Amino acid sequence: MVKTKKNLLITGGAGFIGSHVVRLFVNKYPEYHIVNLDKLTYAGNLENLSDITFKSNYEFVKGDIVGRKFISELFGHYRFDGVIHLAAESHVDRSIKNPLPFIDTNIIGTANLLGAAVDTWQKSTDKHIFYHISTDEVYGSLDEGGFFTETTPYDPQSPYSASKAGSDHFVRAYQNTYGLSVIISNCSNNYGPNQFPEKLIPLFINNIKNEKPLPVYGKGENIRDWLYVEDHARAIDLVYHQGNVGETYSIGGFNEWKNLDLVKLLCKIMDSQLDRKPGSSAELITFVTDRAGHDLRYAIDSSKITQLLGWNPSLQFEQGIEQTVNWYLQNTDWLENVTSGTYQNYYKEQYG
Ligand code: NAD
Ligand code: DAU
Repeated sequence: MVKTKKNLLITGGAGFIGSHVVRLFVNKYPEYHIVNLDKLTYAGNLENLSDITFKSNYEFVKGDIVGRKFISELFGHYRFDGVIHLAAESHVDRSIKNPLPFIDTNIIGTANLLGAAVDTWQKSTDKHIFYHISTDEVYGSLDEGGFFTETTPYDPQSPYSASKAGSDHFVRAYQNTYGLSVIISNCSNNYGPNQFPEKLIPLFINNIKNEKPLPVYGKGENIRDWLYVEDHARAIDLVYHQGNVGETYSIGGFNEWKNLDLVKLLCKIMDSQLDRKPGSSAELITFVTDRAGHDLRYAIDSSKITQLLGWNPSLQFEQGIEQTVNWYLQNTDWLENVTSGTYQNYYKEQYG
C-alpha cells in the first residue's frame, strides 16, 4: 500500500475504552490514518463509533488478534507506524467462569502483535511505539492503606489479571530481547458512556432503571478507584506522544469508593433523574454470594504521569457519574441493543 499518512493501529477500538481512544485520535489527528482492529466479541460494538465512522482518516478492520498469520499479513499490508493495544477479554467474572479465552486473547493475541511489530520495524530507523494498555489489577489486592505504583511487584489474583500480567511481561520481554520500543500504562476502574452492562456501574444503572435487584457481591465492602473514561483516553494520548520508551505509567483518579457507597450514590442520582420516591432504588440492593477470590481494594498513585506529563483527571466523580447516568438514560436504543440476545443468557448464568 502507498502510504501518505502515518498508519496507527488501535486494537479493541470498538470496545468501551477503545472507542473513546479511537474517537479522540480520529478527531484530533487528521494526519494519522487510524486502523481500528476489533474482533467484535460480545463487548465490541460499532455503534460506539457511529459519529466518526465516515471520517476519511478512519478505517475499521474486523479480525482476531489470536490469528498469527492474519496479524502478520495485516502488518505487512499497512506497515503500521505505531500500535496502541487495547483489545482484551476484560471482565473478571467471565474469566472465573472460563479462563481460556483470556489466555488466548490477552496473552497469545498480545504476543502475536508484538511479534508482528518486531518483524515490521526491525530494519527501520524511525521511532515506532508499541503502547500496551494494562490494568492496576496486575498488582493484586491492597489492604486499607497504601497505593499501587509503577514499581509495585506483580501479584495477580484472578484469571483475568493473571492474563493481563502475562501480557505485560511479554511486552517488557520483547523490549529487552528484541529491542522493541514499548510503553505500558496500568489504569484503575473506568466508568462512563458505552461501557458494556456486565460491569458494576452500567449493570446497576440498567437494573435500577428496570427496577431489578442490584446484586452486590459479599458485603459491598470492596474498594475501587474510579476514573472517567475520557480522562483515561486523554492520558493515553499524552503517554503515546510524550511518554518515555521503556517506561510504565500508572493512571487513576485518586477517587476511592466502597462498592456499597457507590451503589447508594447511584440509587440517589437515579431516584432524582427518574422522579422516583427518595430511597426507593436503594430498596433494590441485594447482597449475593461474593466473587471468588474478590480483591479487596485497588488504589493507584498516578503522581508520575501528573508530574512528568501534566495529566490530571478533569471531572469530579459526582459530576462524572451524573453525566454517565444521563447518558445511559438518554441512549435507550444503545442499552436495549446490547442487553437483548446473548446478554440475557449471560445474566441468567451469572445471577440466576
Ligand atoms: P471491553 O471489553 O469493553 O473491550 C474490549 C474490545 O476488545 C472489544 O471491542 C472486543 O471486541 C475486542 N476484542 C476482544 N478480543 C479480541 C480479539 N481476540 N481480537 C480482536 N479484538 C478483540 O474492554 P475495555 O473495558 O474497553 O478495556 C480495554 C483495555 O483496557 C483492556 O486491555 C483492559 O484490560 C484495559 N483496562 C480496562 C479498564 C476498565 O476499567 N475497563 C481499566 C484498566 C485497563
Ligand atoms: O481495576 C481495573 C479493572 O476494573 C479492569 O482491568 C477490568 O477490565 C474492569 O472490569 C474492572 O474490574 P473490576 O472487577 O473491578 O470491575 P467490575 O465492574 O466487574 O466490579 C467492580 C466492583 O463491583 C468489584 O468489587 C465487584 C463488584 N460487583 C461487580 C458486579 C459486576 C458487584 O458487587 N456486583 C456485580 O454484579
